[in-house]
Amino acid sequence: MTANSTKPRILTGDTPTGKLHLGHYVGSVENRLALQDQYECYFLIANKHAFTTRADKPADIRQSVLDIATDWLAVGIDPNRSAMVLQSEVPAIDELTFFFAMLIPFNRVMRNPTLKDEIRDKGLGDNYPFGFPMYLVGQVADILAFRPELVPVGEDQLPHLELTREVARKFDQLYCNVDPKTEDKDYVKAGGLFPVIQPKLGRVKRLVGTGAPGPDGNLLKMSKSLNNAIFLSDDADAVQKKIMGMYTDPKRIRATDPGETSPEKNPLWAFHEVFNPDVKWVDDHRDLYKQGKVGDVAVKKKLVEVINDLIDPIRTRRKHYEARPDDVLDALRQGTKRADAVAEETLALAKKAMKQDYFPRKLGF
Ligand code: TRP
Repeated sequence: MTANSTKPRILTGDTPTGKLHLGHYVGSVENRLALQDQYECYFLIANKHAFTTRADKPADIRQSVLDIATDWLAVGIDPNRSAMVLQSEVPAIDELTFFFAMLIPFNRVMRNPTLKDEIRDKGLGDNYPFGFPMYLVGQVADILAFRPELVPVGEDQLPHLELTREVARKFDQLYCNVDPKTEDKDYVKAGGLFPVIQPKLGRVKRLVGTGAPGPDGNLLKMSKSLNNAIFLSDDADAVQKKIMGMYTDPKRIRATDPGETSPEKNPLWAFHEVFNPDVKWVDDHRDLYKQGKVGDVAVKKKLVEVINDLIDPIRTRRKHYEARPDDVLDALRQGTKRADAVAEETLALAKKAMKQDYFPRKLGF
């Protein structure tokens, strides 16, 4: 696909923090796979954002970038259709970041709830670099550089997308003479450079992990750092061990005890509801479990099958790409090149709108 495709565009991304797990799969990956046909897709690896909290670990970041790119290919992202983009090699994103930073009130960034949660969860206190809050402005530029229509993300990213919408409106009003009364969907029609983007949430907003609830009694989100994740790169044995050892209903001593089937309380049922395509099996066995007529082991064994069925083809493709690291880099190079052309075009148009188009430039790739 070329940059001149007439399909509407999608941009989304991941911060490279490690390998992808089942939470990523149902929260975003699945969505991306489904959208590859109808949209011109740009999937960004936000490697610069990884430096916000791990500037001292460049080798880890490099490994995470390669892991994510390998995972994307393994799940079925087709690099000939969708562009896999390495953020740090698209300079126009950074240039837009600087201009956009002038359109965003400082306090508006600092009040962002996702940023506040990150500061709290990572225990950063007031000990974070300037670049940490700045990543929000960077994310606005990641998105708007591609002038996409849709941005598929998890729920935690919605505040960032609201900021993106605000910047698009402000830019278009200030520099493209768009009337502030224009409806969001009509900004481009009204002469704006940037569309007021729409978020698209995944099928599952928050997948729980395999472990016990946290101190507040709620099951925790699946996360690498909480050690409760099943990775798309786990082998069949690892999947089996994690599932057979997963937290269920602590009050259930024997299979004849009535069991808790709420997906909010028992991850075993949360997983069956999300992943088991055999709805009838799930309904029947949920009833049996409630009545103490089926044991944890049987229900767990079924889940092992279900998860391995999902991961098997991914695992096979992952092996293929693990043995061919050059192909992974090629996919990144090719996608980044296409992305760079689009972002350069956006930057040129933005500079023109801002009357900073003194002479053309040509960057090599
Ligand atoms: N902040 C996102 C996350 O941590 C990753 C990201 C970076 C992103 N740039 C983006 C997501 C642009 C969507 C669009 O998950």
